[in-house]
Amino acid sequence: MATIWDKWEYDLRFILFVILLAYYYFCFPTFSHAISNCIVKIIIFNFFFFLNKDIKLVSAKIMDGKSVAQDIQDKMTVEVSRMKNKFGVVPGLAVILVGDRKDSATYVNKKKEACESVGINSYEVCLPQDCSEEELLEHISSFNDDHAVHGILVQLPLPSHINQRYILNAVCIQKDVDGFHPLNIGRLAMSGREPLFVPCTPKGCIELLHRYNVDIKGKHAVVIGRSNIVGMPAALLLQREDASVSVVHSRTKNPEEITKQADIIISAVGKPNIVRGSWIKPGAVLIDVGINPVEDSTDPRGYRIVGDICYEEACKIASAITPVPGGVGPVTIAMLLLNTVTSAKRIHNCN
Ligand SMILES: NC(=O)c1ccc[n+]([C@@H]2O[C@H](COP(=O)([O-])OP(=O)(O)OC[C@H]3O[C@@H](n4cnc5c(N)ncnc54)[C@H](OP(=O)(O)O)[C@@H]3O)[C@@H](O)[C@H]2O)c1
Repeated sequence: MATIWDKWEYDLRFILFVILLAYYYFCFPTFSHAISNCIVKIIIFNFFFFLNKDIKLVSAKIMDGKSVAQDIQDKMTVEVSRMKNKFGVVPGLAVILVGDRKDSATYVNKKKEACESVGINSYEVCLPQDCSEEELLEHISSFNDDHAVHGILVQLPLPSHINQRYILNAVCIQKDVDGFHPLNIGRLAMSGREPLFVPCTPKGCIELLHRYNVDIKGKHAVVIGRSNIVGMPAALLLQREDASVSVVHSRTKNPEEITKQADIIISAVGKPNIVRGSWIKPGAVLIDVGINPVEDSTDPRGYRIVGDICYEEACKIASAITPVPGGVGPVTIAMLLLNTVTSAKRIHNCN
C-alpha cells in the first residue's frame, strides 16, 4: 500500500526529472543528447537517494535489554552483598518445575544462573509430568514456611491435569515474586492500592520504556494479547502510567487499524511476525514480548527465535524497538531478581 512518503517521493522524482530534462535541453545541441545525459544523472541520483533513504529509514533505536538487565544485576549484586554483611540475610528464590518441557527447563536454568550470579540462593524442585496436584501443593506449602526462601516461582505452563488457579492461589502473597496471585493482580488493577509484586515480564516492559526515556503519560498504547501473565498486567501498568490503553486480542475485528494508532505497542501474542510494518505508526515505540521459534536451516539448531513484530519492516518505521532475542527476555529475569531482593528486604525489614 502506498504511503504519503511514497507519494511524496515519486512526486519529487518526477519534478527533478522534468527540471533536469529542461536544463539539458538548453545546454545540449540535440534532444537525444539531452535525454541520455539526463537519464545518467537520474540513475546517479536514484543510487544516492536509495542509499540515503536506507540509512535514514533504518533509524529505530534498539532498546538493548541485555545491557539494562546487566545494569540491574550489577545493582542487585551490590545490594545482596550489603544485606548479607549488614543484616546476615541472603535472599532465596525457590523454583518449581513440573514435567519435561525443554523451553521451561531452559527458562528455569537461566533464572537459577542469574540468581547465582548476584548471590541469591536458589532452590529447585523438579517434579515429573504426572505428579499430583497434592504433591505440588505440599512443596509450595513447605517453601511458604521456609525462612530461607523469599520468593516462590512455579514455572508455567503446568500439565493440564493440574489446576493452575489452585496452585497460584497457594503461593503465599508475601513470596509471590511472579506477581500472579489474584490478590497481587487485583491490587494492580485498583487505583490507590499497591501490589506487593508486579509480574516480571510486564514490569520489564515498563522498565525498558523508562530506561529509554519514552514518554508514557497521555500516549495511546496498544497491548496485543490479554493473557494473565503478560498482556493483561501490561495494560494495567500502562494505565497506571497514565497512558490511554487499547487491548487487541484474537477476537478483535480490526487489529491493524487499532494498532496503527498506537504511540506505544506492547505485543505478547506468540505468533511470529504477526505485527507488520503496515500496523505501525511512524515513530511508534515497540516492545516485542513474543518468543517464537521458526525453522532456519542456516542455524546449527535448525531454528531461530523471532518476536511477534516483523523486525525488518518495523525498524524502518518505529522510533525505538526491542530486539528478539536480547530485549524483554533478559529484563524479565532481572525483574525476578529485583522482586526476590525486595521480598527479602520486606520480610526481614532490612533497609
Ligand atoms: N520475553 C519474556 O520474558 C516472555 C515472558 C512470557 C511470555 N513470553 C512470550 O510472549 C508471548 C505471549 O505469551 P503469553 O503467555 O501471554 O501467551 P498466551 O497466554 O498464549 O496469550 C496470547 C494472547 O495473544 C492473543 N492472540 C492470539 N492470536 C492473536 C491474534 N491473531 N491477534 C491478536 N491477538 C492474538 C490471545 O488472545 P485471546 O485471549 O483472545 O486468546 C492471547 O490473549 C509468547 O511468545 C511467549 O513465549 C515472553
